[in-house]
Amino acid sequence: MAHWMRILADETIAKQTIVVGDQVAGNIGSWEQLGKREVGYWLGEEYWGRGIATRALAQFLLHERTRPLYAYVAKHNRASLRVLEKCGFSICGEQKGQLVADGEEVEEWKLVIGASS
Ligand SMILES: CC(C)(COP(=O)(O)OP(=O)(O)OC[C@H]1O[C@@H](n2cnc3c(N)ncnc32)[C@H](O)[C@@H]1OP(=O)(O)O)[C@@H](O)C(=O)NCCC(=O)NCCS
Repeated sequence: MAHWMRILADETIAKQTIVVGDQVAGNIGSWEQLGKREVGYWLGEEYWGRGIATRALAQFLLHERTRPLYAYVAKHNRASLRVLEKCGFSICGEQKGQLVADGEEVEEWKLVIGASS
């Protein structure tokens, strides 16, 4: 809750609720990290596999116009990688990241949309 109160109060963080019918299905947002704008999203498990994240990200990108825009995804998270690629992101690097929940290190892809080559 403290984490979310901080996010909700921070006007530099864009945040949207993903709604399916009249139900809250997840969230999507963007924020500044080390001078770069990043996007991230999360869906409740019962909503997976129905194209919802792809639609949510495509709609979000119409409002979040910062380019280049970055995303980081665990290499094992094939569904999220596919969501990003379907929305026009492409892999531009890799790094070791940390899962917030337990601090475990994971290999991540770095993706970008709108980078000048
Ligand atoms: C990852 C997540 C956002 C995907 O949401 P979703 O609504 O199920 O995604 P979509 O249905 O829009 O698209 C998923 C795509 O991945 C594909 N996919 C799913 N599982 C896959 C796998 N194991 N390997 C390869 N592709 C896979 C689907 O076939 C689909 O692609 P397609 O349309 O070409 O068939 C959702 O599972 C989630 O919120 N997970 C927990 C949080 C998370 O991982 N957030 C992202 C952090 S970067």
